[in-house]
Amino acid sequence: MKRITFDTADQAAAAAAAMVREAINGGITTLGLATGGTMLPLYAHLRADGGPDMRALRCFNLDEYVGLPPDHPASYQHYMNEALFRHLNHPPREAHLPDGGAPDAQAEALRYRALVQSAGGIDLQLLGLGRNGHIAFNEPGSGRDTRTRVVTLAEETRAANARFFDRIEDVPQQAITMGVSTIMKARRCLLLVTGAAKADALAQLTDGPIEAAFPASFLREHKDVTLIADAEAAARLEAA
Ligand code: F6R
Repeated sequence: MKRITFDTADQAAAAAAAMVREAINGGITTLGLATGGTMLPLYAHLRADGGPDMRALRCFNLDEYVGLPPDHPASYQHYMNEALFRHLNHPPREAHLPDGGAPDAQAEALRYRALVQSAGGIDLQLLGLGRNGHIAFNEPGSGRDTRTRVVTLAEETRAANARFFDRIEDVPQQAITMGVSTIMKARRCLLLVTGAAKADALAQLTDGPIEAAFPASFLREHKDVTLIADAEAAARLEAA
């Protein structure tokens, strides 16, 4: 895993956005997108001046809450529209997320799995890190062979994400997420981790055992992952 550390979270986000731009300009055709607080400054940098020309791209988000239709203000579809898509002069030709409002979430997960497969997988996948070691919504216990599916969110994840909702009770119990194996098949991954609250998790990712109890640890077995972190998140890493 390649590691690049910056003094501030904003510098880290700017560098990550520059890397995404470079990949887009270099001709990737599928881009995997993530949501969450960490990605907001990345998207702010990426959309500057109307953003890169994304017309050749098919985008696939990692995950979506079950029970939130696309127009729900806390849905990841809404997040993506607000954080990125609506600001772009040349938006992607396709931008997909699982439909959290689908009447049959299991069937929707299978549809989304097939869609990503039919696109030939992901050229560049953006990833954030959950404090409990989740990537996408692959919570602890998710094995290396897990595929796109419906999952139950860990209570700590619901608590961490409650800031995007009026009340913690409003945070859905379930989500549709790409699996660890889907992420591992991405040609390249860009992991952005910032803030002191992630320091323990990042140290475990890089130095702990590779195991389902901490799904992000599987990234160490991926052949092309770039980790971009700020000094706070990297505080407990051994010098690279
Ligand atoms: C979001 C996602 C999650 C987040 C993670 C970190 O699409 O897949 O794995 O990346 O929960 O979230 P923040 O950045 O809010 O700490």
